[in-house]
Amino acid sequence: SKGAALVTAVAQRLASRKRQVDETLSSFKLSQEQLQLVKARMRAGLEAGLKSKGPSAIKMLPSFVYHTPDGTENGKYLALDLGGTNFRAMLVNFKKSLQQNVRLYHKIYTIPLEIMQGTGEELFDHLAQCIGDFLDYMGMKNARLPAGFTFSFPCEQTAIDTGTLVSWTKGFKATNCEGHDVVSMLREAIKRRNEFELDIAAVVNDTVGTMMSCAYEDPQCEIGLIAGTGTNVCYMEEVKNIEICCGEQGAAEMLKMCVNTEWGGLGDDGSLDDIITPYDTEVDQNSVNPGKQRFEKLTSGMYLGEIVRQVLLDLTRGGLLFRGHVTETLKTPGIFQTKYLSQIESDRLALLQVRSILQQLGLNSNCDDSIIVKEVCGAVSRRAAQLCGAGMAAVVDKIRENRGLDHLNITVGVDGALYKLHPHFSGVLQKTTKALAPRCDVTFLPSEEGSGKGAALITAVARKKKEI
Ligand code: GLC
Repeated sequence: SKGAALVTAVAQRLASRKRQVDETLSSFKLSQEQLQLVKARMRAGLEAGLKSKGPSAIKMLPSFVYHTPDGTENGKYLALDLGGTNFRAMLVNFKKSLQQNVRLYHKIYTIPLEIMQGTGEELFDHLAQCIGDFLDYMGMKNARLPAGFTFSFPCEQTAIDTGTLVSWTKGFKATNCEGHDVVSMLREAIKRRNEFELDIAAVVNDTVGTMMSCAYEDPQCEIGLIAGTGTNVCYMEEVKNIEICCGEQGAAEMLKMCVNTEWGGLGDDGSLDDIITPYDTEVDQNSVNPGKQRFEKLTSGMYLGEIVRQVLLDLTRGGLLFRGHVTETLKTPGIFQTKYLSQIESDRLALLQVRSILQQLGLNSNCDDSIIVKEVCGAVSRRAAQLCGAGMAAVVDKIRENRGLDHLNITVGVDGALYKLHPHFSGVLQKTTKALAPRCDVTFLPSEEGSGKGAALITAVARKKKEI
């Protein structure tokens, strides 16, 4: 009958649509073999970075942090944290041998886009202004506090309190900063302001701060991971393996040093070209740093939404989504922030709610559309978590081999919205790490106020040394 024929036709159309969507998403599927390859490439990248004096895809930057905290840190410290779109000022008060009794006061300041992308002087003047406001708020303008500066970009360090910015990442592009010492820039801005004094004792990557703050609770923590706007890892490496600095070995207490890997640069030499999809290429080309941070662009919050948007654009152009209407909204960069991906992928959310989120973003969807959008988000975030897991497997196996162990127990301190808020990211990350590094037992420990508290801990150690 006519009716039956119609039903069959509709069913066939749906089936073919599903096939085409599946085909598009298959480019995001990674086999175990491919993940093993990524692990091997990460490992080779870590080794090359430790050896090379010249530029390498993975920078392996020495942090001049020689050990994790021992619990005797005490006193009041200021922690300043510039990482993503916010600047945070924090007062941390450690009370000796009362580990639970760390007191924190903080204030968050947003960094306007025009300042992120203006001149370096404007950026650091803005930071000095925020610090002044915070000290006013705390009534501590005359205290000349020791301060730790968490600066979450690649810095070449020659001491704990100097760091030359190698290159901006994550959308920052303030001029006249690359190649300059960020501690001096901050000190000069504070001097220009002429309103308060600070004793800046340390500059710290957010991964290092996170590792330190988690190690304060768990001495097995010797790795720091950020899965947020950007992605990065640091870990405790044997000083003798760090050819780029350090030369001959120091005292016994300096056998290890924390290395900021800047693993987001994996692939900048083309080593990930076989897994990079045309959607990734598009996202890379539209970014402020094309060709750079290729691993980061596959795995972190700043880019996942953009990859999703590129796929949705493609599916819509192919008539498979949104009735083939490419709207202005869909053409708008940045509409899919991590928080929306997290919501869309939540298992507790009914499809109707997915549709209402899309509606909020200005996208009119029907029921089939919302199923497809959810699938796209899932494919993109799953690949991100698997790639991070493959990278982590390389790091933990390296540490295990460094120590000549058959089996390693280790804790990773973690921070970042992708890890903390996404419903599946952390699970897939853990599973992948386990599968690819079966001889390591890896515990992931989410940090609280991590990078700031960690910077304060490092400052405490740096100032204790000076007193002795
Ligand atoms: C980017 C930065 C790195 C930072 C990471 C996480 O990868 O280059 O220094 O740790 O983002 O914030």
